[in-house]
Amino acid sequence: MFTSYIRYLPLILAGAAAPGLIALSVALSSTGFALAALVALLLSVLGISDLLQTRHAVLRNYPIIGHIRYLMESIRPEIRQYLLENDRDEDPFSREARSLVYQRAKGVEDKKPFGTSERIYEPGYAWVTHSTAPKHIENSDFRVLVGGRDCKQPYDASIYNISAMSFGSLSANAIQALNGGAKKGGFAHDTGEGGISTHHRQGGDLIYQVASGYFGCRDADGRFDPVKFAAQAKDPQIKMIEIKLSQGAKPGHGGMLPASKISEEIASARGIPMGIDCISPAAHSAFSTPLELIEFIARLRELSDGKPVGIKLCIGHRREFMCLVKAMLASGTAPDFIVVDGAEGGTGSAPLEFANHVGMPMLEGLHFVHNTLRGAGLRNEVRVAAAGKIISAFDIARALALGADWCNSARGFMFAIGCIQAQACHTNKCPVGIATQDKTRQRALDPVDKATRVARFHANTLKALGEIAGAAGLEHPGDFLPYHLMFRQVASTFKDGNEAYPYLPDGFLLANEPHADLLDWHARWDRASEVSFAPKEIPHGPYANTYGR
Ligand SMILES: Cc1cc2nc3c(=O)[nH]c(=O)nc-3n(C[C@H](O)[C@H](O)[C@H](O)COP(=O)(O)O)c2cc1C
Repeated sequence: MFTSYIRYLPLILAGAAAPGLIALSVALSSTGFALAALVALLLSVLGISDLLQTRHAVLRNYPIIGHIRYLMESIRPEIRQYLLENDRDEDPFSREARSLVYQRAKGVEDKKPFGTSERIYEPGYAWVTHSTAPKHIENSDFRVLVGGRDCKQPYDASIYNISAMSFGSLSANAIQALNGGAKKGGFAHDTGEGGISTHHRQGGDLIYQVASGYFGCRDADGRFDPVKFAAQAKDPQIKMIEIKLSQGAKPGHGGMLPASKISEEIASARGIPMGIDCISPAAHSAFSTPLELIEFIARLRELSDGKPVGIKLCIGHRREFMCLVKAMLASGTAPDFIVVDGAEGGTGSAPLEFANHVGMPMLEGLHFVHNTLRGAGLRNEVRVAAAGKIISAFDIARALALGADWCNSARGFMFAIGCIQAQACHTNKCPVGIATQDKTRQRALDPVDKATRVARFHANTLKALGEIAGAAGLEHPGDFLPYHLMFRQVASTFKDGNEAYPYLPDGFLLANEPHADLLDWHARWDRASEVSFAPKEIPHGPYANTYGR
């Protein structure tokens, strides 16, 4: 009986002590007793309000001491990160991975003593096959020319660039640091969907992202405005245009920037009014069929005076991507590039179910896009980029081997400007001034110093990539092929990259006879149409089965 009331003890003690302490402080004129009386009084009030409130059962049952639980909960991430986290715990980036970026960004020692701490016999481990005749690659400024047949201003892109992150999700100082770093290092900075702000004007090459909100190129109803788009896209700082269909962390989900977060600067970059919530719809209004999307790509290319125009997406229904490829074949025009974002990608904010369970991971998405384009005989027309936790030279090498022409990183570059993975991007309380619009917090981030770190991280990562390519006996990382990698998918065995993520035969989807080992690819292809993203009904025959999504 007594033990069940012991939880009220702090409240009883505080309540009982308060009158005595008040009396003593008056009698002895003692500041110490006065302070103790004040504490006892405050605790009594807190305890009584805990008992009376109805929101938190813990506090009703455990007045006063129940607050310890909330305190611990609020500092749990910090306790975990600083005291308990293992070097290899991924949450979502391991301490080892983050440290590598910090070291490369600061230009300090990035070598590791004593050997690997990877679990090299466990599933998920992958390695590069090295050569007995390694090469020395002197120049690590690796580049790829982007721009297909219809493009008049191809862009000589670095093979590692800053992925889309908008002004709004990132602070003004963060955008300045990223763009300044891109200028110093000679690589590209994707604006993200929030339009182009004055902070993007540090001289770094820009990829202008056009998403469903058409920020910076929209009319009063939020629809695409060709005149505004042309005015933005012709700017010489803009090197490429990227139509965002989806992003890995929340594919198929729109977004909303609450009115409270819309500053004058954000409103001007996006071309939206202040005082009203800003909606990014889940779907585009400028097109709704595969052929219309291809027409939209051609239109943007024309409006931008022939700059490369591409799409960014996370793979969902594979057949829908095939619809798009069929539209490329039917229209005779293709995007200049396709960025494949993986489900493991980052975001400023996403519903947990979307972040955890919607969309295809990067390796599978990349493999699928690369091989569908090969199957349709279009792989040489379209450049393919990959994004999704690509922050080390090995990550880049693996994506290149599996079919990417270049890679993008968002959170890698956030680490380079000082992100500590506090995971508070959605709260406006980023402790390092990166993902916040709070001006007092942004002051902590010096854009000039951090721009140098961005450029250094990029240069040192590409230098390490050159070393890995050289170790594999290659002259250029673009020469990586699947067989340069081994994958341990099941404990105690491994697969050659050619087996795990093979390059499928060129033009196989167009052949008269289906390839016997690739029937599911053919089934899906047969159900895809350039006219609509909906599945074609095939009621009879070998493909009248569950394949097709
Ligand atoms: C803070 C933040 C904001 C982002 N904003 C956008 C955006 O505006 N448009 C977009 O296509 N992707 C956006 N992304 C996704 C990244 O561009 C990228 O596709 C994904 O994060 C890749 O994963 P990475 O962070 O592991 O490199 C954002 C990511 C982060 C972390």
